[in-house]
Amino acid sequence: MIKRNTIFVTLLTAVPMLLSACGGAATVPPAPTDTTAPLVATDTTAPVADTPTMAAAADTPTMAAASNGSKIAILLPETKTARYESQDLPNFKAKLQALGFDVNNLIYSNANQDASAQKSQAEAALTNGAKVLVLDPVDSAAAAAIADEAKAKNVPVISYDRIIKGTDAVNYYISFDNEQVGKLQGQSLLDALGGKANATVVMINGSPTDNNATLFKAGAHSILDGKVNIAKEYDTPDWSPDKAQSEMQQALTALGNKVDGVLAANDGTAGGAIAAMKAAGISPLPPVTGQDAELAAIQRILAGEQYMTVYKAIKQEAETAAQLAYTLANGKTPEASMVNGKVNNGKVDVPSVLLVPVKVTKDNVESTVVADGFWKVSDICTADFAKACADAGVK
Ligand code: BGC
Repeated sequence: MIKRNTIFVTLLTAVPMLLSACGGAATVPPAPTDTTAPLVATDTTAPVADTPTMAAAADTPTMAAASNGSKIAILLPETKTARYESQDLPNFKAKLQALGFDVNNLIYSNANQDASAQKSQAEAALTNGAKVLVLDPVDSAAAAAIADEAKAKNVPVISYDRIIKGTDAVNYYISFDNEQVGKLQGQSLLDALGGKANATVVMINGSPTDNNATLFKAGAHSILDGKVNIAKEYDTPDWSPDKAQSEMQQALTALGNKVDGVLAANDGTAGGAIAAMKAAGISPLPPVTGQDAELAAIQRILAGEQYMTVYKAIKQEAETAAQLAYTLANGKTPEASMVNGKVNNGKVDVPSVLLVPVKVTKDNVESTVVADGFWKVSDICTADFAKACADAGVK
């Protein structure tokens, strides 16, 4: 068994230490490097205006402020992908609770991939007195209208996981280096293809309205272009696993079932692509990428059905968002050292916390998701996967 701390050390070398809002002794890390330029594939030449000023050292919020009845709203985009309700929401809520926030004052809505439903949910949260909006937008561009409405009511907005584009009404952005996610996927696929000449690759990208999907795709293309034959490529509306399955079916039909590798943008779409290949009787399965380190994907990796996934420390992401939201809800300014970069959203440079994504293959399941406490061996190694676990040395 590997020590839990292994991966934290890796993550924390590149991200800021989270500071206690209760005034406890906190270690201030060295200034992080500027990650501005390569993180967003959108227009970086747009004028930079109104960048929120970061306080050099924030006032120390008192715990008493936690019970002042301020409401915090978290708005998540969908339920077809497992992470939101199994990781993001519970970790966000638990952190708020640990900070002393009364979670009866937490407003949660999930938009089920409907951007206009998300706008109504945000408006309802504002009407219900939310003092901070934590928004993971279904549609990165359309969500600007939501942020503008919040700003008009003096409600700060935290852009959660996906950036909200084209508005100056975003106070913070917390996510991962998303272009790097696509690079990890592309490089892993190349490694798995072992230098095969002119390999036929199918790309199943994410939702065209999600700016992260644009970044994952750009990262993957930057590695794969010119090295493999991208024979078919799809943007998958709503990130729907079902739609990914039918895209893969179409690709198989068009390519006469001859596919050497699949670049799937996340584990949900990987599952759809794998289901299509199994239904077409393809054996052995070619290497397939993914993202999110979903339990089903970790099990498929151990069973040899999926080549890799990308682990993102969602607990850390959710806890950072909770810390920022809590501080803002109490009318305080988060400490400048909480952010480690800026991301231009086409309108302004948004102070950002960007975490580091980690590649997971059969070889490092134990030293990544298990060591970090994301999954327990007992979650992964159920009876159906006992042999796969033993073979991979996961115990
Ligand atoms: C997230 C991924 C997720 C995908 C589908 C992206 O914006 O970063 O973790 O798999 O959306 O919900």
